[in-house]
Amino acid sequence: MSKKEVLETTEAQIAVHWKEEELYYPSSKFIGQANLNDPAIFDKFSLDNFPDYYTSFAELLTWYKYWDEVLDTSDAPCYKWFKGGKLNASYNCIDRHLEKNKNKTAIHFVPELEEENVQHITYQELYVRVNEFAALLRDTAKLKRGDRVTIHMPMSAELPITMLACARLGVIHSVVFGGFSASASADRIVDSQSRVLIVTDAYYRAGNLLEHKKNADDAVKIAAEQGQVVDTVLVWERYPGKYSADTPMVEGRDISVNAELKKYYGKRVEPEQMLSEDPLFLMYTSGTTGKPKGCQHGTGGYLAYVTAMSKYIQDIHPEDVYWCMADIGWITGHSFIVYGPLALCASTVIYEGVPTYPDAGRSWRIAQELDVNIFHTAPTAIRALRKLGPDEPAKYNYDFKHMTTVGEPIEPAVWKWYESAVGKGRAAIVDTYWQTETGGFLCSTVPGISPMKPGSCGPGVPGIHPIIFDDEGKPVGPGIAGNICIQNPWPGMFQTIWGDRDRFVDTYFGMYNTKPDSKDWRDWPYLTGDAATVGEDGYYRVLGRIDDVINVSGHRLGTKEIESAALVADEVAEAAVVPVNHEIKGKEPDLYIALKPGIEATDELAKKISDVVCEQIGKIAKPRKVWLVPDMPKTRSGKIMRRVLGAISNKGDVGNVMTLANPEVVEEIKDMVDNS
Ligand code: WTA
Repeated sequence: MSKKEVLETTEAQIAVHWKEEELYYPSSKFIGQANLNDPAIFDKFSLDNFPDYYTSFAELLTWYKYWDEVLDTSDAPCYKWFKGGKLNASYNCIDRHLEKNKNKTAIHFVPELEEENVQHITYQELYVRVNEFAALLRDTAKLKRGDRVTIHMPMSAELPITMLACARLGVIHSVVFGGFSASASADRIVDSQSRVLIVTDAYYRAGNLLEHKKNADDAVKIAAEQGQVVDTVLVWERYPGKYSADTPMVEGRDISVNAELKKYYGKRVEPEQMLSEDPLFLMYTSGTTGKPKGCQHGTGGYLAYVTAMSKYIQDIHPEDVYWCMADIGWITGHSFIVYGPLALCASTVIYEGVPTYPDAGRSWRIAQELDVNIFHTAPTAIRALRKLGPDEPAKYNYDFKHMTTVGEPIEPAVWKWYESAVGKGRAAIVDTYWQTETGGFLCSTVPGISPMKPGSCGPGVPGIHPIIFDDEGKPVGPGIAGNICIQNPWPGMFQTIWGDRDRFVDTYFGMYNTKPDSKDWRDWPYLTGDAATVGEDGYYRVLGRIDDVINVSGHRLGTKEIESAALVADEVAEAAVVPVNHEIKGKEPDLYIALKPGIEATDELAKKISDVVCEQIGKIAKPRKVWLVPDMPKTRSGKIMRRVLGAISNKGDVGNVMTLANPEVVEEIKDMVDNS
């Protein structure tokens, strides 16, 4: 973002007064077996050795042709990693393991209903299913290298199969989180120009079989209104051979995958030899404007990076059973359920449903049954598990050697429960800080080398060199909050925003780049958009976003996105969203609405606006409360004072409001919120 667009880092965002915490040390048993336990790694990965130190990451993969150049900066800040190299991601995640490990479980799929059997899919079976489906994509759906395809699917074994089949053909996949609405799916279909949509008929959530296919019908309709025609919808069945949705299949457009696959029995598809810099996938994420941006990730750089992170930070060995309880529809699932673990030939667990269904012991039963030894989740899930079943983990017999927390800041008290109750005091924990844009980790301790500090994610991972700048671009010292940036490029970093290079450059580099024509990476520090402090020990503590992004249950949402959704309701004149602290979700959106003149504020209208937001984005964006206010508090230049609304919602101090254009309205809104 450019300098003028940067919003003030509010007091609320930086007022995280956690005291310094004690260090926790990994056990010698863990260190002894760790993939990385030599502290010399940090010297090897010092900036003096940049970018060559990253060749060791690329060497974890199997290449058809080695690269000519490690890093090409000629189009900075759009970088090409391992330029000229050729590889295929599906080959690296499947084929190369067959000779030694075809009989090993690649994916354990755990259905939400406990009475249904866990599916254990071997690498050989994954190979067969990915090949047959790739043949279907090629011959039935007529997809070819470079095409984009939108995938709107819930957690299932078919989701990674679909992604890997795309990768095999060089088709760029764009997975939309299953909980997103048809409208959100349509936006992504349009932006990525997908003519094929892949969905599932239904899935389980909290014990109910939810219809999902209807989203496809609606999304296709909305996309068509915006000029993007989807001619083929491929529908996987939750129960193969039995269609579980209520909406009919559309003749000539919808194809039942499970029936169609019969034509492809025994088919094999030679993997496309992709250039390292060819895009592998798009992952849309929220930013400062209402329009989600398609983060474009490359093939060689991304795969090398997530494989290395899975090996060194997640400490995955081929014999491990690894469970990342994120959703594949988010970047965490792409990198750390699918690509990283499978590239390392691990067994990865995919769980369909809610971690606390049917009770708070479910997650630990899964861990016990599958003998999971690496566990990965987000603070929001940890808070929920702690609240609903603080004593549940002790009832089950599992043994985690390693655990991860990801996606939002974790309160030290929650971290400590995770360590003692879930990890039983035996697991090494990493708090991994990163983003959709970054492909893999930015900051974390190396679990076999450094001690842990509750509430701090740790130093930059080997190869990543963070720096905290003030708004003028001066580095700040320990204990002072500023904007955390990364000084150097890294292979997992996204290549651009799909179709919008200017937005990419402006958003992530505009603030600190002073030489827009420079081809030298040193001139392009990457702006994460987070505020952070660093301790004397070099451990970073991420405080929260400096832009209009909020983190609800680990889901990244744009306040502008929710506001634009609310404006779809005819009655709404102005909308303002502020984050409210929530015990389990971290944050929740509070929606303030000023109605058009003459419209009466009623409870029905408030509910209607809330429903409109859910329809436009998905239930995850449902406002905590819709406040129909007489007017928005505004500056004299007419800017809505979201900071004041945020203070009211969080029952904090609104500060001095006398300089506002309409200070009297603040008291009115405050009364409304306090007395509700
Ligand atoms: C936040 C998720 C504190 C941060 C992988 C970042 C974190 C945003 C952490 C990205 C962490 C992520 N500690 N905050 N360990 N990890 N964040 O794109 O604000 O969904 O910018 O990627 O989540 O969210 P995204």
